[in-house]
Amino acid sequence: MNKAYSWTLWNRKFDSPILLASGTAGFGLELLEQGYRDGAAAVISKATTLKPREGNQPPRIVETRFGMLNSIGLANPGVDEVLETLLPQAADLPCPLIVNVAGETV
Ligand SMILES: Cc1cc2nc3c(=O)[nH]c(=O)nc-3n(C[C@H](O)[C@H](O)[C@H](O)COP(=O)(O)O)c2cc1C
Repeated sequence: MNKAYSWTLWNRKFDSPILLASGTAGFGLELLEQGYRDGAAAVISKATTLKPREGNQPPRIVETRFGMLNSIGLANPGVDEVLETLLPQAADLPCPLIVNVAGETV
């Protein structure tokens, strides 16, 4: 990683321009941590919403000639569960975790 590159967000300095995109590792801390080990400066959790969401009916993932299409529909256990289960464990992550929060109203 080129340590000469750095940028600042929320008063925090990041040494890589790469962030692990939301959802690609779900809420799995091991996968999120692997994203950091693979070069991301910070990792982003799957999006969470105020209430739990089942998400879309299957099929949710389709492979095409051009790549993968996914339409999960923001399936998640809801912010209370995320706060209770994910965040306490995330304290051990070696990098910042950005929690993606999706809203339905202003
Ligand atoms: C399997 C998968 C799950 C995703 N889940 C979420 C999600 O929960 N919330 C979200 O905001 N974006 C989600 N995304 C979108 C990614 O965060 C990202 O915006 C998308 O992959 C485009 O990234 P790119 O512009 O770097 O190609 C998901 C993407 C993938 C491939």
